[in-house]
Amino acid sequence: MQNREELFLKENGLDVDGIDREALLSAFAEEMAAGLAGSPSSLMMIPSFISIDRPVKTGEPVVVLDAGGTNLRSAVVTIDAAGRAAIGSFAKRAMPGTQGELEAEAFFDAFADFLLPVIEASVSIGFCFSYPAEITPECDARLIRWSKQIEVPSVVGQMIGAGLLKHLEQRGYTRRVVILNDTVATLLAGKSAGVARDYSAYVGFILGTGTNTAYVERNARITKRTDLDPSGSMVINVESGAFRRVQQSVFDATMDAQTIDPGHYTFEKMISGAYLGWLGFTVLRAAAQAGFFSAEAAARIGAWPTLSNKHLDDFCGGQPTPDNPFLEEAFSDGDRAAVIRLCKPVYARAAVLTAVNLASAILKTGEGRDPARPVCVNVDGSTYYRTLTADFQNRVQRELAELLGPRGIAYELIRVEEAPVIGAAVAGLM
Ligand code: BGC
Repeated sequence: MQNREELFLKENGLDVDGIDREALLSAFAEEMAAGLAGSPSSLMMIPSFISIDRPVKTGEPVVVLDAGGTNLRSAVVTIDAAGRAAIGSFAKRAMPGTQGELEAEAFFDAFADFLLPVIEASVSIGFCFSYPAEITPECDARLIRWSKQIEVPSVVGQMIGAGLLKHLEQRGYTRRVVILNDTVATLLAGKSAGVARDYSAYVGFILGTGTNTAYVERNARITKRTDLDPSGSMVINVESGAFRRVQQSVFDATMDAQTIDPGHYTFEKMISGAYLGWLGFTVLRAAAQAGFFSAEAAARIGAWPTLSNKHLDDFCGGQPTPDNPFLEEAFSDGDRAAVIRLCKPVYARAAVLTAVNLASAILKTGEGRDPARPVCVNVDGSTYYRTLTADFQNRVQRELAELLGPRGIAYELIRVEEAPVIGAAVAGLM
């Protein structure tokens, strides 16, 4: 039997059981093929100009810069002959552009200044840049647009590597930089960690502040480029968070309209850490108006400026810390039960869509038919590993098995600590 909350969600277009997984897989496959051909598609299928079989210099340090959705991090990494990475001199600060709008000059200054303490370690910088960017054959990156609500509009369209190098030159340092997406880095880290095992293909997957996939494609199939060696292959950054052929619920549309980039990254806005709390909050506000809560609880929800994903997930996942807003006195036991019934499906849906996202990339490799040679999927990201609600990680894995099992596809999900940093180092040392 359906409860009122489930019915309310369903009436507004949020229906976990009703998701047509197979139709989504087909739509992903079509969009991926169109993206490779340069036809209109919501999936950019960006060539990385990184092939996975190039040798990696060992025993030599490389500077790593990792620009993620929340943090900017730097490190010095050395890889030994056995493929083990030693990471030192870790530093971290907030990602420029997450704390209010910035100008391009201030943005590049922040990056260059942040690198100064480690800049002497190497002339090479491996730069993991976790945003949609067109990569040049020299591995610089032109920012296509910001995702994850970063506010540095004047950098859009600019070369990120050239900007950084110019600001380093101004400080007296001439360097070279290799830029790659975090999913590409994660794939490379999986490859370098998995040397002992015989995998047929590699996928990199991130579910953190944002979401995305990468896989290895034959150049002959990247028909939108005519300058590639047809016998080679390279990693493709799918930018799967931008997938558009998924039905938004009323709540998704309401939240999307409040973002700085409405209509863009609608898939990411349904599943990643930057948005899940916000989306749950949108559901709760609508439910409060529809009379699902006591007057006190409804007034509290109406008064909150935001709700963090951590607070909502901790609460719905049964592990709230004492500062959790749902523990406020205004919430009765009935209110709290309603919050869980209303928001758990938000996370359950994210798990289903995450499995579709992953399955699409695994299927696109065309490999995994021999159980002795599975597809290696390196998974990274706080949202994947830390979400408590709806038995998140297990649910993703069950859904994935249901999608790929009947197709006879063998795959293995692996985890490499600090994958984006290690992958950026590998790229910098290639
Ligand atoms: C970005 C991708 C990135 C992903 C995971 C998305 O918002 O557009 O480039 O790979 O987040 O960090």
